[in-house]
Amino acid sequence: MRTIRAKIILLFVVIFGFTLSLFSGVLYFLYARQSAQNFDLNLSNDALEIGGLVKSNSFLNQDLLSGITGRPLEQSFGPNRYVQVVSITGRVVMISTNLKDQTLPISRQVVALALRGNQVFETLGPASANHVITTGKMRIITYPVFDDGIPRYLIQVGASTSNLDESMLQLRLLLLLGVPLTIIAAGAGGFYLAKKAFDPIDRIIRTAQSISVDHLDRRLDTGRVDDEVSRLSKTLNAMFDRIEQAFKLQKQFTADASHELKTPLTILLGEIEVALKNPRTAQDYVGILSSAVEEIRRITNIVDELLTIARLESGQLFLQKKPVRVDELMLDAISKTSAYASQRSISIGYEVQNVAGRDNEEVFVEGDRDKLLSVMINLLDNAIKYSRNDNAIRVVQAVDRDSVKLKIIDRGIGISPQDLPHIFDRFYRADKSRSSEGTQRGSGLGLSISRSLVEAHGGRIDVESTQDLGTTVTVELPPYDYREAASKEEIH
Ligand SMILES: Nc1ncnc2c1ncn2[C@@H]1O[C@H](COP(=O)(O)OP(=O)(O)O)[C@@H](O)[C@H]1O
Ligand SMILES: [Mg+2]
Repeated sequence: MRTIRAKIILLFVVIFGFTLSLFSGVLYFLYARQSAQNFDLNLSNDALEIGGLVKSNSFLNQDLLSGITGRPLEQSFGPNRYVQVVSITGRVVMISTNLKDQTLPISRQVVALALRGNQVFETLGPASANHVITTGKMRIITYPVFDDGIPRYLIQVGASTSNLDESMLQLRLLLLLGVPLTIIAAGAGGFYLAKKAFDPIDRIIRTAQSISVDHLDRRLDTGRVDDEVSRLSKTLNAMFDRIEQAFKLQKQFTADASHELKTPLTILLGEIEVALKNPRTAQDYVGILSSAVEEIRRITNIVDELLTIARLESGQLFLQKKPVRVDELMLDAISKTSAYASQRSISIGYEVQNVAGRDNEEVFVEGDRDKLLSVMINLLDNAIKYSRNDNAIRVVQAVDRDSVKLKIIDRGIGISPQDLPHIFDRFYRADKSRSSEGTQRGSGLGLSISRSLVEAHGGRIDVESTQDLGTTVTVELPPYDYREAASKEEIH
C-alpha cells in the first residue's frame, strides 16, 4: 500500500468488481424474472388454447361436464404439459393421457380465486409434485373459462420447471465463477497497465537518485513522445540545470574569493619575509609597514564586500530606510572621492536638472543612506579609476515627477562591447592591463554589489559605454515625496 501503483490497482479492482457484480446481479434478476414471466405466459397461452379446444368440442354443458369424471383428454400438448379440466365444484372431469391415473392437486382456495376470474399460478415443490413428475418442481396455472359471464369450468395446465431451473442454475454458476475470474483478470491487467505507466517514474526516481554533487551534469531521459512523464522529466531537467548553474556559480565564487584574498596575502607575506631577512633602518620599516597597511586595507575591503554579498544573498541585509536628500548624498560621495580624483588631476562637476518648480531641498529618495552612499562612491571610484589623468567627470542629477536619475559620466577608457554584458558579474574585471593605474586594483565586486543594493531600493542601474570614449552609469531611484510625508507626520 506504500505505492501509488498499489493504490490505483486496488481502487480499480474494487470499483470494477463492484460494478461488474452489480451489473451481473441486475442482469441475473432481470433474466430470471423475464424467464419466469415467459414460462407463465406459455402456460397461460396453453390454457387458453385448451380452453378453446374444449369449447369447440362442446363440453360446455355444465351438466355434461359434471357427468363425466376422469375422462382422458385426447389431444396431446407436448410431453411436458399436464392438463386437466375441473368443474366449478372442484371435481376433476378430464385429464390428459400423460397424467395416467394421477391428477393435479387443486385446492378450494384456488378454485375460489379462479372462479372470481383470476388466472392462478402455483408452484409445487417436489413433495407435492413428485407423484406426476420424477424430479424438480411443477408450475400450474388454473384458468377459468367463462361463457356469458358465467364460469363454466377450470383448465389446469402444469409443467415441470426443471429446464428453467437448470438454465438459471447454469447462469448462476457462470456468473459466480465468471465474475471473480474477470475481476482477477482485470486486476492482472490493471497491474500490468500501472506497471507500464509507472515504469518511467521509477526510471526518473533512479536517475534522480544518481544525480549528486559529483554527477550534477546527469539528466533524465525525456523520450521521444511529449507525454506527461516527458514533460515532468523536462521540468526536472530544467531544475537540475538551474541547480547545476547555481552550484557552479557558488564554486566559482568561492574560488574567485579565495583567489582575490590570496593575492594581497601573498604580497603581504612576501614583503614581511623579505623585511625580516636582514636588519633594516627605521625608515625602511615605515615603508614596509605602510605597504602592509595598504594590502591589509585591500583585504579588509574584499572581506567587507564578501560579507555584504553574503548578507544580500541570505536576505539578512536590512536596509535602514529613511528619507535621503539626494544633493547632500551626491555631494558627500563626491567629497569622499575627491582626494583620489585630485591625485589623478581629475575634476568632478555636479549638475542639477530638476523638474520645474522643484528645489534641491525637496528632492528625496527613501533608502539606507550608508548603502546608497557606498553605491555612489563605488561608481565615482570606477569613473576615476577608468579615466585618464586630467579628464573631467560629470555627475548629473536629473529629477522628474516619477524618477530620480543620477548619471555619472566619464570620458575614460570605456568598456568594450564584449565586456559590457559581464561587468555586473561578480569578480568580473575587463582586461586589467587597460586600467590606467595598476596600483588601483579592484575586486570586480563593486558593480555587482551596487546593482543588488540599487535593486533593493526599488531602482535600477544601467551602463552605456563606448570604448575609448567614456562611460555613463545611470542610477534610477523612485522619488520620495518629502512634503507629503512631512504633512503625514504632522497629523500623527
Ligand atoms: N566607468 C567605467 N569605465 C570603464 N570601465 C568600467 C567603468 N566602471 C566599471 N568598469 C568595468 O567594469 C568592471 C567591474 O567593475 P567593478 O565591479 O566596480 O569592479 P572593480 O572596480 O573592482 O574593477 C571593471 O573592472 C571595469 O572593467
Ligand atoms: Mg569598482
